[in-house]
Amino acid sequence: MSVVPVNSVTPADTYSPTAQLSLRNVTKVFHGKKDLFSQLAGKRTKDFVAIEDISLDIEPNTFVSIIGPSGCGKSTLLNMIAGLSDTTAGQILFNDQPIAGPGPDRGMVFQNYALMPWMTVEENVRFAVETVYPKWAAKQVNRTVKEHIQLVGLVGAEKKHPHEISGGMRQRVGIARALAISPQILLMDEPFGALDALTRGFLQDEIERIWEQQRKTVIMITHSIDEALLLSDRIVMMTRGPAARVDEILDVPFPRPRNRETIEQHPAYHSLKAEMESHLFRETRAVEAARINKS
Ligand SMILES: Nc1ncnc2c1ncn2[C@@H]1O[C@H](COP(=O)(O)OP(=O)(O)OP(=O)(O)O)[C@@H](O)[C@H]1O
Ligand SMILES: [Mg+2]
Repeated sequence: MSVVPVNSVTPADTYSPTAQLSLRNVTKVFHGKKDLFSQLAGKRTKDFVAIEDISLDIEPNTFVSIIGPSGCGKSTLLNMIAGLSDTTAGQILFNDQPIAGPGPDRGMVFQNYALMPWMTVEENVRFAVETVYPKWAAKQVNRTVKEHIQLVGLVGAEKKHPHEISGGMRQRVGIARALAISPQILLMDEPFGALDALTRGFLQDEIERIWEQQRKTVIMITHSIDEALLLSDRIVMMTRGPAARVDEILDVPFPRPRNRETIEQHPAYHSLKAEMESHLFRETRAVEAARINKS
């Protein structure tokens, strides 16, 4: 097992020259509402530092998971990488260029699916492809849509609407839609969080299979230690908030292709799992202690 300590401020010469994505001293502050009406309504009026000074390099073709206690700022971090929200301080570089907003080079899979309910499975995927590649001929669009529906195992469900399919199938549509636009990075915010354990297990295996085929850079937020260990090359462990930081980054040395049985046999499995459990336990206990002290 290798544990890479992370300094709170990363000196410029320690940034990886080969990183595809580079977070440099990123801070996010949510500003409180200062107007009188918000004050009278008891809304949060103070500024809230969600993330403080996070530096992180992500190499191409690696599968990175982010894990940390609930509310620590994982979605905030992913949304900034997606370009859905700005950094307050610091920079996020993608292929050495600052991120200026959302783009088709980054595909996003949301926890709550975020599908268009009035569109069929096929139309949901097609809509994304046509939006990103308006100049493509119909033949190329059709081929891309078909390929991605096949890739995620949805053949036969093309004409169904989201309300006619299961949660697991909806999430497959979300994954097909994100991959069909050929992003360089796939961003997933707790993609399996809403699913039952069995469906979750099947989809994790699917992601492992798809990742073996495509080897795209993936950043996935998860609360599941087992999921992170099965899928990741590196696991970023965040501290509790406010002012959340990166505590440690674990390298996961299991050879691929992986499955649950083979990784459990690996000599590093139990120590990695124990390391993650103690991190999550410590951080979550501190969150609870702070909550009890407040009340
Ligand atoms: N738009 C916003 N305005 C104000 N505060 C926000 C906003 N979005 C998030 N926060 C706060 O920032 C902190 C981090 O939120 P975030 O959603 O990133 O956490 P998370 O780690 O993704 O949590 P979970 O595991 O529960 O999904 C929380 O305290 C949250 O209340
Ligand atoms: Mg979240």
